[in-house]
Amino acid sequence: METMGTLRRTHYVGGLRLADAGAEMTVAGSIAKCRNKGGIIFADLRDTTGILQLVFDDFTDPAVFAKAGSLKSEYVVIARGKLRERDAKTDKLPTGEVELFVTELRVLSAAETPPFEIRDEVTVKDELRLKYRYLDLRRPAMHEPIMLRSRICQIVRNYLAGAHFCEIETPCLTKSTPEGARDYLVPSRVQPGHFYALPQSPQIYKQLLMLSGFDRYYQIARCFRDEDLRADRQPEFTQIDEELSFVTQDEVMEVNEGLIKALWKEILGIELPDAFPRLCWDEAMARFGSDKPDTRFGLELMDVTGCVRTSSFAPFAAAVSGGGSVRLINCKGLAAQLTRKTIDKLAEVAKTYGAKGLAYTRLTPEGETSSFEKFLTDGEKSALRAAAKAETGDVLLLVSDADSTRACTALGQVRLEVGRRCGLIDPNAFNFLWVVRFPLFEYSETEGRYMAMHHPFTMPTADSLDKLESDPGGCYAEAYDIVLNGVELGGGSIRINDPALQNRMFRALGFTEEKARESFGFLMDAYRYGAPPHGGMAYGLDRLVMLMLKKDSIRDVIAFPKVQNASELMSGAPDLVDQKQLADLSIACTRAE
Ligand code: AMO
Repeated sequence: METMGTLRRTHYVGGLRLADAGAEMTVAGSIAKCRNKGGIIFADLRDTTGILQLVFDDFTDPAVFAKAGSLKSEYVVIARGKLRERDAKTDKLPTGEVELFVTELRVLSAAETPPFEIRDEVTVKDELRLKYRYLDLRRPAMHEPIMLRSRICQIVRNYLAGAHFCEIETPCLTKSTPEGARDYLVPSRVQPGHFYALPQSPQIYKQLLMLSGFDRYYQIARCFRDEDLRADRQPEFTQIDEELSFVTQDEVMEVNEGLIKALWKEILGIELPDAFPRLCWDEAMARFGSDKPDTRFGLELMDVTGCVRTSSFAPFAAAVSGGGSVRLINCKGLAAQLTRKTIDKLAEVAKTYGAKGLAYTRLTPEGETSSFEKFLTDGEKSALRAAAKAETGDVLLLVSDADSTRACTALGQVRLEVGRRCGLIDPNAFNFLWVVRFPLFEYSETEGRYMAMHHPFTMPTADSLDKLESDPGGCYAEAYDIVLNGVELGGGSIRINDPALQNRMFRALGFTEEKARESFGFLMDAYRYGAPPHGGMAYGLDRLVMLMLKKDSIRDVIAFPKVQNASELMSGAPDLVDQKQLADLSIACTRAE
């Protein structure tokens, strides 16, 4: 093994072009690929910016040539030479017009044969890639999103600094508070039996910073939630977290439209519109069956309860008498694609989301089939078809439920599945929108009480203030989510800054005065000393990078992600610990597997 000696890198390779030919330079990196053709050796050198072909031939010093002959994949080298035009150019590499004719080579580290080849076409299992994550990350396709993520953070920092935000760190060892997901707990050694919670978000701290007069705060903050993993969820993830004083909801949205516009312009060169569309939650649910609608395609939901209000068809009758509704989508011209078999699969989707079934009518040129029309009167049938603007070639899909939100949600998921299966979604589009005017509360059957839809500090809308006690289900919040292509990218709200209103809110959420004090006493006290009106929001940074770079999973944009059972396959965390460590923490385990 050699040292770098006097060689020092002068160039990264990714940007080298024909115009640089003739330059003397020193480059450093790993050998991506080696081809020894006898009298000539080609070695692709990979650094963090790209790949460059190194070449050794008859004109190479024999000692250097011999050393080149010993090179293998993943050896780490530093090489000096002259950049020259390639005979056999390739457009497969951005540097494909040039190569480095090497005059000095130092092998800095040998490498064993890696457990899989480091190249962009993936042929090995995810588990193996994650176990050797440091090798997997060497692949340019994996490297790139992590580098772009860094640039994104830089742009966020510049933009927010320019908008007078101050970057402030908040603690990771915090107090466990109710509401939200399950906490990750950290035992205290010096106070046996006491636990910190890792923050699910810096929510309370950022509100307190407004009370401390910082006016505008942001942080690229790590958050921890012990919840089930999904493609867009990790147990630890990162938020771009913001809070602003003396603002309205509109002002928070404007600042953030500016931020998103700056990111899309600088990273992707895409000019987004100045203002993003806004939809009230009620309208989003009614038209798309989702509070995060994917607006890249139509197939909007319709309320057809009026057409079948007096129908004797049992599912419709049950929905109507239960105070619910019947919702429909017209899958225009999709009869050929939506076969009976496909509709059965769609019915499974509807059932997963709580629907009892999926009624359908297929209007093919060969004839009509329907799961329910024979139970309708001629009048009901024609009213329904007219409302749906049904024509030959269409498929009507309906969900009825005594709970309208459930009917919409289930049909909304069917809509998405139809969109995916029938290729209705433009993969290149970036459809942003704000969903506003969320319900303040949602009723939890399991808890038997109302829960905060966002969190307990969310300001009710002015027209809800006198309904907190009398009609919690009819209250709305000054809350907003930013949605991109059907994914919740971020969300926030204007906060309550009046202690009396905050107390009413805690009561509405079923907290006794004692419990509220125990959990949030320090916050309630703080608000007694003067609190500016304030509000903010947080983006999921991982989701933002994932959607921006069109990745399927947030794992692709996190250097060391966790898998389904929340473990990190490379290091093996979580792991058993020494009895001594547990004893120090006054902890006895009742179960370890
Ligand atoms: P919320 O809980 O909506 O709001 O979180 C904000 C955003 O964080 C992202 N996110 C996640 N990303 C990856 N994995 C997860 N497990 C995960 N959970 C959430 C989402 C989400 O929109 N304190 C409030 C914000 C505020 O009111 O200012 C909050 O945390 O993109």
